[in-house]
Amino acid sequence: MPVITCIDDLKRIYARRTPKMFYDYAESGSYTEQTFRDNTNDFSRIRLRQRVARDLSGRVLETSMIGQKVSMPVALAPVGSTGMQCPDGEIKAARAAAAFGVPFTLSTMSICSIEDVAAASPTPFWFQIYAMRDEDFVDAIIERARAAKCSALVVTLDLQILGQRHKDLKNGLTSPPKLTLPNLINMATKPRWALGMLQTPRRSFRNVIGHVKGVKDLSNLTAWANEQFDPKLDWSKVTRIRDQWGGKFILKGVLDPDDARMAADAGADAIIVSNHGGRQLDGALSSIRALPSIVRAVGDRVEVHMDGGIRTGQDVLKAVAMGAKSTYIGRSFIYGLGAMGQAGVTKALEIIQKELDITMALCGERNIKDLGRHNLLVPKDFEGDWADQ
Ligand code: FNR
Repeated sequence: MPVITCIDDLKRIYARRTPKMFYDYAESGSYTEQTFRDNTNDFSRIRLRQRVARDLSGRVLETSMIGQKVSMPVALAPVGSTGMQCPDGEIKAARAAAAFGVPFTLSTMSICSIEDVAAASPTPFWFQIYAMRDEDFVDAIIERARAAKCSALVVTLDLQILGQRHKDLKNGLTSPPKLTLPNLINMATKPRWALGMLQTPRRSFRNVIGHVKGVKDLSNLTAWANEQFDPKLDWSKVTRIRDQWGGKFILKGVLDPDDARMAADAGADAIIVSNHGGRQLDGALSSIRALPSIVRAVGDRVEVHMDGGIRTGQDVLKAVAMGAKSTYIGRSFIYGLGAMGQAGVTKALEIIQKELDITMALCGERNIKDLGRHNLLVPKDFEGDWADQ
């Protein structure tokens, strides 16, 4: 086993151990993948100010998200089909997050169900919901999240219609995979994955199976999303979900200051500046570029979180210094999970924590709460000098 020192190392092992169809599912953006690439590339345009001869003892990364203590400003983002990246993937990721002291967010489109994860996770987790045409399903799943003692509801706003990702169509992505010859040949080269999958009963979308009326082909996510996701989602439906839930409420997928104001008006405890990891509107701004204008618009009214492109602790530091209260990682934990299961998610969190700590120290700061624009060198054109509309 090679020495693992960074998220990229985990990604290389993940690529070897996971069937191509699921690697491609995670490692893609929509259409040209411009926004997917920008999410990571734009972090590297921001530089850090090195400060010296400052007392660096007793450093603190601990902070809070929506009033909940976290060991660092990082949560695990909701990632559909996580249990296809690794057998029982959601359970393993939730356990790793709980032990580390960061939130785990379970996707509606998970393989392990809310109940599966609740039975296995030592601490409450967060649940992410999509608005569906079938309001009875929405009502019921909110009640299931409540019964499972989920401590926040995350409503994803940027996927009422699925962005096209070419590779998924070319690969004929389904969960579980269809037993075609090319799939069988590929899976035969991933014995650890295949054996684990044979040993678990959790191989399809267990939050949904048996809970939604008239669903025909659930294995095909694209067909299912087109059939079930509610294209009529609007702010009145958002507030309806908020009222029914009645607990901590996070709105995910906000990329525009106008929408951020609406989200704050809708009573969100936090918003997540996000473009769904570049998987939805290709050509949209990267999250880190969109972040400052949203912080200016609503930062005094609601917690602003962000995700998209975080692969290092330095990225976390940059996001926090740009005004995010906290961040989420999607692919970075998936790489760890696919590479080494629960231990791999822990490894990904450890890598990011260490990078964040060392970078914070070299910037001359001792407490994550003291980070700000004064730690950064941001190019003058970073937010874009766009022509008026
Ligand atoms: C996602 N994301 C996502 N978001 C969501 O609200 N519900 C979901 O089911 C999913 N599913 C999903 C699957 C995969 C494979 C990926 C990569 C992403 C988006 C996710 O929550 C998050 O916004 C991005 O992953 C953040 O970008 P990075 O960290 O992956 O660059």
